[in-house]
Amino acid sequence: MTVVRRPIGVFDSGVGGLTVVRALRARLPGEDVVYLGDTARVPYGSKSPRTVERYSLACQAFLLARGVKLVLIACNTASANALPALREASPVPVVGAVDPGAASALAATRDGHIAVIGTLGTVRSGAYERALAGRPGVKVTALACPLFVPLAEEGWTDGSDEVARAVARRYLTELFERDRDIDTIVLGCTHYPLLRDVISATARELAGRDVAIVDSATAMAEAAAEALGTGPNGRKHPGQLACYATDISRLDEIAPRFLGEPITSFELVDL
Ligand code: DGL
Repeated sequence: MTVVRRPIGVFDSGVGGLTVVRALRARLPGEDVVYLGDTARVPYGSKSPRTVERYSLACQAFLLARGVKLVLIACNTASANALPALREASPVPVVGAVDPGAASALAATRDGHIAVIGTLGTVRSGAYERALAGRPGVKVTALACPLFVPLAEEGWTDGSDEVARAVARRYLTELFERDRDIDTIVLGCTHYPLLRDVISATARELAGRDVAIVDSATAMAEAAAEALGTGPNGRKHPGQLACYATDISRLDEIAPRFLGEPITSFELVDL
């Protein structure tokens, strides 16, 4: 009997979603993955919900045409603004970033004071507030931190980088002014895990205590395993990774920072 290997599809507005691919390959190492970065149209974070939905549907259609068995929306902005439309249009399960991120925050918080940082589109959508609504004692403070995206792409992410520290300080000062009791910060954008150390150190300085930092990448990988109803698939060989992008300028330099491993190549596609 021939066993058909169907890949998992992952898309993002750019290369940030490779942080999710990294977590996915750690959790389900034998799975084949098809990644699409809509690098020609990034950023989604500053665009209207209708446009984000339209672009996201095109990304998903590309993945579905490649026979994927599951779609992961490795973009918080797309998850926050387009999840219902994507689910309606897909014959296979679709996993977004918001619910796994919110669940990780609930697991991490001590006192229920949760902050969410992300793009303007994610913050304006109110998606994290909705995902955490009705939880007794939970207070959510959301703030857009758009400058973290170019910092991550530029590779200015080191904990000692003075520009990264200054930007983090400015954003997080505003966050703690809104709620001085924040004990957990959700990195609600696929680029932000690269700045985790800077964000964590700055939050500790401002709060005068440790603040839990959670990102949705690991939780999304877990949600993918659940959606497939499998543990690691037991194949001995690592799954294949095929990467596509709608623009390939500078990808060879930027993408490995997000994936954490060398990347063979991106194939240029038009949606
Ligand atoms: N991928 C986006 C997100 O996670 C960040 C970059 C963008 O604005 O498109 O929200």
